[in-house]
Amino acid sequence: CIRDRAIGDVVGKAGCEFLRSKLPQIKKDYDIDLVIANGENSAEGNGITPHSANFLFSSGVDVITTGNHAFRRKEIYNYLSDNEYILRPANYPEGSTPGKGVCKIDMLKRNVIIVNLLGTIYMESLDNPLEKIDEILKHVSENDIVIVDFHAETTSEKRAMGFYLDGKVSAVFGTHTHVMTADESILKNGTGYITDVGMTGPINSVLGIKPEIIIKKLKEKMPVKFEYGEGACKMECVLFDIDLHTRKTVGIKRLIIT
Ligand code: FE2
Repeated sequence: CIRDRAIGDVVGKAGCEFLRSKLPQIKKDYDIDLVIANGENSAEGNGITPHSANFLFSSGVDVITTGNHAFRRKEIYNYLSDNEYILRPANYPEGSTPGKGVCKIDMLKRNVIIVNLLGTIYMESLDNPLEKIDEILKHVSENDIVIVDFHAETTSEKRAMGFYLDGKVSAVFGTHTHVMTADESILKNGTGYITDVGMTGPINSVLGIKPEIIIKKLKEKMPVKFEYGEGACKMECVLFDIDLHTRKTVGIKRLIIT
């Protein structure tokens, strides 16, 4: 089996440091082979920078995925293109967009292909993610293990993607909403699935941000400066056990580390 661990959006310095303090031991305890984390909110301020990406990699993350905040910080553009193991959603326009949406890791004599896609409902109007994944899968061997981070807003779009890919990929997990869903399952053709992995960041927050700031914004409808929540953090993640031979998920478990 490959044990793959997906970590929900890592938010800010506090989220990054909490991940660094917990991940090494968890990798040992659960015998994890591959760690994928969504890092699009890992920089102080917003987005992802080379500094925050390096911090995640040096904390034990193998592949960083992103989403709608992938390009917030200009300093990450070259890094997205140069570093093999950081992804931006694959359905951005080809040619003009820095980076790539697919990467490959050689593991235990298998190729593990990681794909990052962005939803299009209440998000950017990018290429249709269902068509994009079809195109990507045409170039993937039947022997490859494929894992998809679908960064999307609506539960319907995410669940539809899960069923669409059931039996075609090993695992699909959702990110972006920063709230872990309780629908982890192995779909009928063997694809491991969860609508949202959740967040690594401050517990007393609205998606990582101080509650009073979000309440002010919702009440007064004027722009506000986001500040990260304070106090204790949690790390939310999902563990997929993937059979090397069948490439199906044989076990799935949600973890909330405090
Ligand atoms: Fe996002």
